[in-house]
Amino acid sequence: MSLPIRTMIVGTGGWGKTWCTQTLPKAIQEGLVEVVAAVDVNPDSLKTAGQQLGLNESQCFTDVKLALEETQPQICIIASPPHTHEQIAISAMEAGCDVLSEKPISDTLDSCMRMVEAARRLNRKMGVTMTHRFRQPIWTFRELVRSGDYGALDYIVMNFNWHRRDGLKERQAKMQDTMLIEGAIHQLDLLENLAGAHCESVYMDSWTPRWGNYTGSAQALLTMRFENSVRASYETAWCNASPQNSWEKEYIRAEFEKATIVLNRGQIEIFREEDNRLKASPIGTAAELKMNPKWGNDYLLDAFLHWVRGGQKMETDIESNLHSMILLFASIESSKQGVPVQIKRFARDQGIVC
Ligand SMILES: NC(=O)c1ccc[n+]([C@@H]2O[C@H](COP(=O)([O-])OP(=O)(O)OC[C@H]3O[C@@H](n4cnc5c(N)ncnc54)[C@H](O)[C@@H]3O)[C@@H](O)[C@H]2O)c1
Repeated sequence: MSLPIRTMIVGTGGWGKTWCTQTLPKAIQEGLVEVVAAVDVNPDSLKTAGQQLGLNESQCFTDVKLALEETQPQICIIASPPHTHEQIAISAMEAGCDVLSEKPISDTLDSCMRMVEAARRLNRKMGVTMTHRFRQPIWTFRELVRSGDYGALDYIVMNFNWHRRDGLKERQAKMQDTMLIEGAIHQLDLLENLAGAHCESVYMDSWTPRWGNYTGSAQALLTMRFENSVRASYETAWCNASPQNSWEKEYIRAEFEKATIVLNRGQIEIFREEDNRLKASPIGTAAELKMNPKWGNDYLLDAFLHWVRGGQKMETDIESNLHSMILLFASIESSKQGVPVQIKRFARDQGIVC
């Protein structure tokens, strides 16, 4: 068995706390990683993380470059806010680390591109934690969609809606379009993944009602067409009166030639055409959820470490994930312009060839 990989974690409060209390302790126990440094600009979060990870004071830093110099990690995990990802990731890659960053890659498309270019130039591996794709019900749904058992895929409907009119955290309430950039990115990424092709064109109408404490848009309705002619409609809403379909409770319906498959609040039902012909109410059968040893970030860390050790590239490497970021910013552009946006043309206009 190979030696544990020397690991640094940057950003230990908020979602980073999940890394420090769940994902990393499990990986340490399995002998996959050795945490050699934790970094946070907030000394309180840092102190707690140090205790959770069993680090001594000399392994806890408020400065990324100093941590890199003094502890020489092999990999850097980034769980700080989106606008900080670029500087941290590039410093880590320049110091010889491979990087696993929390989504989104960054908060602007230019910044995402600089990170992609740095990974190419420095020949470093960089992965992105699109955690949502790798949760049990969604994974099971994705396997059914990809199985080929139901004929051609025609279109997908996805509803995500929640009551978070408070704007979540202060930094998020102030960040431009945070709920699209930090929230909708999960589902846009998932929609491309389910459709099985990149998005060709997108139309988005987005806004925030007066009862939402957000900067930019926190509600949006989208219509998408993918390169393989699959269509999708997607609702994302953070300011509703009730959480009908919030995180892990989304409604996703995939319409095939020979079946309708519905994921609703974690349960999957398959409605076959032959059982439903001319019926007034649908007749479905429940699908069993897939069993996996690991889900979410546990799975993603495993996939990343496997790649770092010379194995197969992880599914959500930065180059693949860039497509989801282009789709996200093309959607924002569509809402600004009030017209559908052709994704390839939008990318070319931003100087991106993909
Ligand atoms: N994969 C998922 O499902 C998931 C879920 C939630 C959040 N996230 C992502 O995780 C990231 C962090 O989100 P959050 O909600 O925890 O944010 P947050 O603002 O709550 O916490 C971020 C932490 O990073 C620290 N920090 C800020 N700037 C820093 C810097 N320059 N260097 C080091 N530390 C710094 C803060 O002090 C804080 O402890 C975001 O990119 C977010 O989108 C992912």
